[in-house]
Amino acid sequence: MSEKNLVFRGKSKDVFQITEGPHKDKYKLVFTDRATGYMEDGKPVFDPGYDSVVGEIPGKGAIACRFATYFFKLLQEKGIPSHYIDTISENEMVVEPAEPLSMPVASPDFTGSAPLENLEFTWRNNATGSFWRRYPFVKPCKNLNTLVEAWTKGDVDILITFEALEETGAMRREEINHTIELVKNMAGIVSQEFASKDLHVIDGKFELGRLKYGDGKIVIIDEISPDVLRVCNGYSPDENGDCTVNKDCAVTNYSNGKRTIKNKKQVPAADFTDIFLS
Ligand SMILES: Nc1ncnc2c1ncn2[C@@H]1O[C@H](COP(=O)(O)OP(=O)(O)O)[C@@H](O)[C@H]1O
Ligand SMILES: [Mg+2]
Repeated sequence: MSEKNLVFRGKSKDVFQITEGPHKDKYKLVFTDRATGYMEDGKPVFDPGYDSVVGEIPGKGAIACRFATYFFKLLQEKGIPSHYIDTISENEMVVEPAEPLSMPVASPDFTGSAPLENLEFTWRNNATGSFWRRYPFVKPCKNLNTLVEAWTKGDVDILITFEALEETGAMRREEINHTIELVKNMAGIVSQEFASKDLHVIDGKFELGRLKYGDGKIVIIDEISPDVLRVCNGYSPDENGDCTVNKDCAVTNYSNGKRTIKNKKQVPAADFTDIFLS
């Protein structure tokens, strides 16, 4: 496909407008092998937690595409609409064009003004990661009943309240309520699928957008990525859903005013993708 139909080049995916054939006017998402990370002694260290592309991992795009296809089809089976239409090669997906949840700058004359580029939504079954660091009074791995949070996506992701989204006009109250419900629903489906393989999803992240055609419905877009699912094994909930093995699993630290938390029973993305793709 020629570069001229390129709509957008992301860190790991390219988006093209389809100009002919049965999928005319839809978008093609190409999952590339580009990978983010950081440089150490002149060599790339791949880490999905970082935001700059430092090289390529052969086969990465195809794995991401198969994983996302698996979960978009699962949502489809459960009657949840998404941008997903079809997978047409090992690393290419046809999707419904959508507008990210965004806002232009209101007063460009003011230095430092910036648009809202798009929104991502985290959902949390249990307290860990940045959630625990923000709310360290909470027991690690406490049940959070699939709590949903909104983040603005940019150089650094910033937590934004639902009240602020409504007040700034970025989303209407009905859209916010629908979005929270939808994210919880999809999170439940993804978590259940992992549970059927004896794995527990601690938390995850989805990107949502408004479909360009039709009624502008808000649906999940982009991908369902193994890189943003925190998965563990050995989850053992008490009657409140709080994990009881947290003393063996969660390791916290506090030094120089900085908190960290990690989960020893976390399963690397490469291990659980194998389970779904084999
Ligand atoms: N259905 C869609 N319509 C329009 N844009 C989309 C759709 N699905 C995904 N995108 C956009 O395509 C880009 C995918 O590329 P990616 O490498 O994930 O980008 P990023 O660097 O922003 O993470 C994202 O910016 C995402 O917002
Ligand atoms: Mg992305």
